[in-house]
Amino acid sequence: MEENLKRFIDQHVIITGAGSGIGRGIAHRFASEGAKVVVADIDSEGGEKVAAEIKDKGGTAQFFSVDVSSEESVKELVQKAAQAFGPVNVCVSNAGVSETQSSALEITTDEWDRVYGVNVRGAFMFCRACANNMMDNDVKGSIITISSTMGRGSKNMTGAYASSKSAVIMFTKSLAKCLAPMGIRVNSIAPGLVTTNLYRPVEKEMMMEKDSFVPWIIEECIKSGQLLIPRVGEPEDMAAAAVFLASKDASYITAQVLCVDGGTDWCW
Ligand SMILES: NC(=O)c1ccc[n+]([C@@H]2O[C@H](COP(=O)([O-])OP(=O)(O)OC[C@H]3O[C@@H](n4cnc5c(N)ncnc54)[C@H](O)[C@@H]3O)[C@@H](O)[C@H]2O)c1
Repeated sequence: MEENLKRFIDQHVIITGAGSGIGRGIAHRFASEGAKVVVADIDSEGGEKVAAEIKDKGGTAQFFSVDVSSEESVKELVQKAAQAFGPVNVCVSNAGVSETQSSALEITTDEWDRVYGVNVRGAFMFCRACANNMMDNDVKGSIITISSTMGRGSKNMTGAYASSKSAVIMFTKSLAKCLAPMGIRVNSIAPGLVTTNLYRPVEKEMMMEKDSFVPWIIEECIKSGQLLIPRVGEPEDMAAAAVFLASKDASYITAQVLCVDGGTDWCW
């Protein structure tokens, strides 16, 4: 990590799903670069913990509870965050859920709605609320969604997850077009495989041990020559991409999907 960069001093950065995994890594990185970070999550224990970790390191952070699938909850989050830290400069729509390995024919309607409720509806409502806050305050900010390489072409048995992430990608591009006249940039990061809690349902279904699914599939990808950088992705890899996309270095970049996946784009 570039320890000395301080590109976000006093900027208000709000991240959903920051109570664990990739969101936690992104929250730490922005805080290390001087941002005032809102850690938003449905998991209060995880979110409070991440905010405390940041404060322990001398950073500025506050936890707010949110359920991104509820419009009321999202509006309340952005309102409270703005009261705490002022107008939003950067938002990262990261909260997401996976599913078990059910096919498009097997997945239940309730499961479909749950995955789409968080991954798609949640991204839409959160990004829109943040965009409104930016426009109201004439902030030429940056909006980042977290999609997935699976949203770009999945050969896997995922009834809802892959298509939900394709929807996130197309929503990102649509929003970028709407917000370009206001000087607000919108991009997406498509992570490859990162060992996080996201794979717990899959591990349970496959009767695998905790944290064993990602290393196993990475090994398979390496064997079949489909992983160009032969290691597991880390939350820090995604965080590095997020600070880049939010920074002035990316001021000519909008409506893009940045795959941070060691070259596995077509692996799954
Ligand atoms: N881990 C990977 O390999 C991988 C790959 C591609 C994309 N992603 C995406 O990265 C993002 C982060 O996932 P992760 O891997 O860090 O998993 P994770 O499970 O560690 O983190 C997801 C976070 O979202 C929160 N969350 C879930 N539902 C929520 C809701 N309704 N409201 C608010 N918060 C909610 C969870 O509490 C959790 O803290 C997700 O959008 C995921 O789809 C992950």
